Amino acid sequence: MKVIAPDESGSEPANAAGAAGGAKRASPPGPRGHLLLGSLREVQHEPLELLRDGFRVHGDVVRYRFGATHAFLLAHPDHIRHVLHDNHRNYDKHNVDYAMLRRLLGNGLLTSDGAFWHRQRRLMAPMFHRQRVAGFCSLMVDRTLEMLARWDALAQSGEPFDAAAEMARLTLAIVAKALFSADVSDDAEAIGTALTEVNRQLGEFSLLDMVWMIPTPRKRRFRAAVRALDQVVGKIIDQRRRAAHRNEDLLSMLLDAVDEETSEGMTPRQVRDEVLTLLLAGHETTANALAWTWYLLSQNPEAENKLHREIAGVLGERAPNALDLPQLPYTRMAIEESMRLYPPAWAISRNAIGEDEIGGYRVPRRTNMIICSFITHRHPAFWEEPERFDPERFSPERSEGRPNFAYLPFGGGPRVCIGNGFAMTEAQLVVATVAQRYRLRLAPGHPVELHPLITLRPRHGMRMTLHPAAAADTGDTGDRAAAGETTPARAAR
Ligand code: HEM
Repeated sequence: MKVIAPDESGSEPANAAGAAGGAKRASPPGPRGHLLLGSLREVQHEPLELLRDGFRVHGDVVRYRFGATHAFLLAHPDHIRHVLHDNHRNYDKHNVDYAMLRRLLGNGLLTSDGAFWHRQRRLMAPMFHRQRVAGFCSLMVDRTLEMLARWDALAQSGEPFDAAAEMARLTLAIVAKALFSADVSDDAEAIGTALTEVNRQLGEFSLLDMVWMIPTPRKRRFRAAVRALDQVVGKIIDQRRRAAHRNEDLLSMLLDAVDEETSEGMTPRQVRDEVLTLLLAGHETTANALAWTWYLLSQNPEAENKLHREIAGVLGERAPNALDLPQLPYTRMAIEESMRLYPPAWAISRNAIGEDEIGGYRVPRRTNMIICSFITHRHPAFWEEPERFDPERFSPERSEGRPNFAYLPFGGGPRVCIGNGFAMTEAQLVVATVAQRYRLRLAPGHPVELHPLITLRPRHGMRMTLHPAAAADTGDTGDRAAAGETTPARAAR
């Protein structure tokens, strides 16, 4: 096992058998931070920089103090596997990160724990089986074609548009229809605005927010955004309760579910929490994955050409379907590589229920374990030239021997993303359908910057222009970064 050990010099971490092989040490290294606050201010304002600096200076296990709480950053796949898989019973979601998310999502599948989570996961799992997801393919393609019909006018005018917002609208329409048979097109803008507000507030919480009783304008805006989302969810549920005909979808499953032990159904609040969780978790992440994919393709003409050749060769002019997916491996690898560089769920965390030992270090109970896929996906022991966009690193040959937890855009272990098959199918179909018709180019001068909130968004959206797919690539149809440079300036530090 190759472990990045602490580097006392503060420069690049040394590759050596370090903490994991050594004697048990009391506490991992980490930044000292402010006397009282520790690294609290930094984690509020520049969380990704804080974690990247910690890894660069201190190695695979880094200790942080945020006020009165302690956290370990884990960058090594073996340590991550220990927390998410091997010893997952010792880790739950009772930490500050999930407490904040609960203010929005309540006790849904993403935020619940224990027996309740287990029951809900078992109930919903059939909806996400491979065959069931295959049944959503035509919906995914049809919604993309509807979007393209709107895009044709944009292409004619040459006007730049926000591809990130377009992807959010598309993935929202798909997940709402697939899981709840609902058309939310009239509410798309309200959902987008509310989601931007809650994402920002949960991602950039302030010290005042930690004292929940103190009213601040930020809190009023947060509550208004939650109310707006609740209204949409309420409408979806009410329409179904009143409908004469019941679709066999996830919403029916939730409304009809009966607890075997208590013979009771879910409370309205539980149904609300699950619907909102799936509506948000089921579209925002996939939308970001797609927005970053368009950006990366626009910056890497060789990869983009290869993708277009694959799609044209397999599909010609016809729309893709479920059977085409295995024939589009490069398309899949490009999406996987995009989620390596810009993982939409860029960090997850767990609370240590009891004491443990990781990498030779003692983990005290109630330590917050931070797993930052953005960092692990660039770990130099597992990824050659980690900043380079290189989809073929996901080919079977080149993936051989890579530890499972070196790549975790969907998390791992029992709490792995329930929608991971849904998301990959959707992303592959959307990319194939759009790329049959268009190439996307970054609008000249548009700044691309990471915005690491709950999800990893492009801070200023992704303003792009449309160009015919068949057009020869001359490299001058928009802004391209320097060859091989894929990382927005802020993240490259
Ligand atoms: C590219 C798209 C997606 C990414 C990157 C992503 C990422 C993740 C990650 C990292 C987790 C684990 C969180 C943790 O362990 O703390 C997760 C959980 C979850 N995701 Fe996704 N997700 C995506 C798409 C979806 C879709 C399409 C759905 C539903 C339609 C969905 C629903 C959920 C739910 C309900 C959970 C909680 C599962 C549980 O704890 O049992 N996600 N997702």
